[in-house]
Amino acid sequence: MKALVLSGGKGTRLRPLTHTMAKQLVPVACKPILGYVMDHISEAGIRDVGIIISPETGEEVKRYIGTGKRWALKVRYILQPEPLGLAHAVKTAEDFLGDDDFVMYLGDNLLSYGIKEARKRFEKERPDALIYLKEVDNPGQFGVAELKRDGSIKRLIEKPAEPPSNLALVGVYIFSKRIHEAISRIRPSRRGELEITDAIQELIDMGYPVKSEILDGWWLDTGKKDDLLQANSIVLDEYIVRSIKGRVDRRSEVTGRVDIEKGARVVNSRIRGPVKIGKKAVIENSFVGPYTSIGEAVVIKDSVIEHSVILDGSHIIGIERLEDSLIGRSATVMKNSSQHKAYRLMIGDDTIVEV
Ligand code: TTP
Repeated sequence: MKALVLSGGKGTRLRPLTHTMAKQLVPVACKPILGYVMDHISEAGIRDVGIIISPETGEEVKRYIGTGKRWALKVRYILQPEPLGLAHAVKTAEDFLGDDDFVMYLGDNLLSYGIKEARKRFEKERPDALIYLKEVDNPGQFGVAELKRDGSIKRLIEKPAEPPSNLALVGVYIFSKRIHEAISRIRPSRRGELEITDAIQELIDMGYPVKSEILDGWWLDTGKKDDLLQANSIVLDEYIVRSIKGRVDRRSEVTGRVDIEKGARVVNSRIRGPVKIGKKAVIENSFVGPYTSIGEAVVIKDSVIEHSVILDGSHIIGIERLEDSLIGRSATVMKNSSQHKAYRLMIGDDTIVEV
């Protein structure tokens, strides 16, 4: 079995971050989402991985993944010139996939547990597609499945205006070579994309077996800011163990599960976990509360931060309370201490500032 990881796309919902970075590389608990995807693929015993990249962000993805050796994977990069849909990405990868079974993993999706069990089930039962479903509150934003009474799939619809159920298709699928035949028979949807949902529906219509499994662990599609903050909280909650490799001075207090990396410094501050602090970050005269990830070389001074993700190289200075925030790379948020009270902003395109 091979793996196909989709790491192209536009990432419009995560702008402005995605003006300058691939959304699959946005960190969750200081590790790019794509890193978790690669972990899962490796744990499932798969070795050959194709990674779909876009002309805009492909180089950055390549720099992070490299040859894949770190995960004991053999990686081939496949350029998708335009993001014409998930099924179009499969079509672009036809040469790499050949006649092999493959797991398709969306590079911006995070799953609580890996795909080892799904692989076993697929290889035992040999359907032509095995999909995961998850109950969600907002099914209209996903591919949605309508099930028959016996639990088998009746139909699948992409982003329906009136969802027939609350079961969304999770961004991990396992296919046999028959999916290529199904993709060759479908046409672009109203939004101009070749939809994988339509291709799986086509498999069903062609009479091929499609099986599903309802996911009982968590699943996070990190497409938007609040999803990303939620993903950060859940991953910090599940994976962070107390580990203090950086320096904490005697006036500071670090409680709970806090992971402070090498070269980081905590000076006269309080940190309450779960929190992750990256290499060479400096926290001074501040409070960092639960569910916060602080990237490499970030500086936090005279501030209070909670439930936030701060990317590498940013400065937060003199901010009384920063919550539920996502701050990009090398950004500065600071208090204006002059008499003249005014907001002075220089912000990128598609940014949201709440004051
Ligand atoms: P989406 O989140 O559906 O699409 P997107 O990245 O264009 O984001 P947005 O809606 O915010 O503009 O894509 C899911 C994953 O698949 C994501 O990791 C990007 C990837 N993808 C491709 O590799 N090729 C494609 O043609 C598309 C549509 C997505």
